[in-house]
Amino acid sequence: GSDGHVHDVDFVFEGPFGKFDENQLQRGLQIYTEVCSACHGLQHVPIRTLADEGGPHMPEDQVRAYAAQFDIYDEELEDDRPRKSSDFFPSSSLSNAPDLSLMAKARAGFHGPMGTGISQFVNGIGGPEYIVSLLTGYTGEEKVQAGTTFYENTAFPGGWIAMAPPLYGEDVEFADGHSNELHHEAEDVTAFLMWTAEPKMMARKQAGFVAVTMLILLTVLLYLTNKKLWAPHK
Ligand code: HEM
Repeated sequence: GSDGHVHDVDFVFEGPFGKFDENQLQRGLQIYTEVCSACHGLQHVPIRTLADEGGPHMPEDQVRAYAAQFDIYDEELEDDRPRKSSDFFPSSSLSNAPDLSLMAKARAGFHGPMGTGISQFVNGIGGPEYIVSLLTGYTGEEKVQAGTTFYENTAFPGGWIAMAPPLYGEDVEFADGHSNELHHEAEDVTAFLMWTAEPKMMARKQAGFVAVTMLILLTVLLYLTNKKLWAPHK
């Protein structure tokens, strides 16, 4: 069928030395806030992490102002109050819209060949690629079934999704005049969702790099030690 089509995207955070681009994450946050958050939530993401290095790296005062836009019910006050940086993002406001905190790692884009998953070794799991393909995969066809409208989408399994196309291009204006074409918006919001799903990715890659470097060094030293110890007996 025409469903399940996912195209590869060259994200800057891919590969052993890939890093999140903080400007892209900030643009993604803007798209998430202005468009997606109307229905979806990010209930597992602490707002203060927007200030983290290796993430959007926003100034603390900007993060506090961001948090204060969203009210939260405070048990102690027995009343609503503006959120603080230490609170989490709001959860989904539309009951059938899934929380997006971990979505980029909950979905796979690459499977084959023949369901073996071998292409995942080369291309990665493909969660971010799936989200970009989903956001850009609407055909414009709609159908109503049991009172619900479904939209044809070439990436969504089954081909018909209950989410109306959330992005058309030019949905947001970026302060720095960055392109707001559909595929740019889709990639920016997806990069942001990859960060929410794996906020410590850069620290993980760095630790992995240090570990591999040390193991290579250890290998060299053991080789030389072995040579030296056995030299008299050869
Ligand atoms: C599902 C992303 C905006 C309503 C989803 C899914 C993703 C997603 C990744 C999961 C698809 C899957 O299950 O594989 C986004 C992004 C948005 C956005 C990035 C902003 C750019 C919206 C808006 C609404 C909405 C504004 C409501 C008007 C839904 C619903 C579903 C859904 C109802 C469940 C669809 C189904 O299972 O058939 N969205 N979404 N989304 N979204 Fe959105």
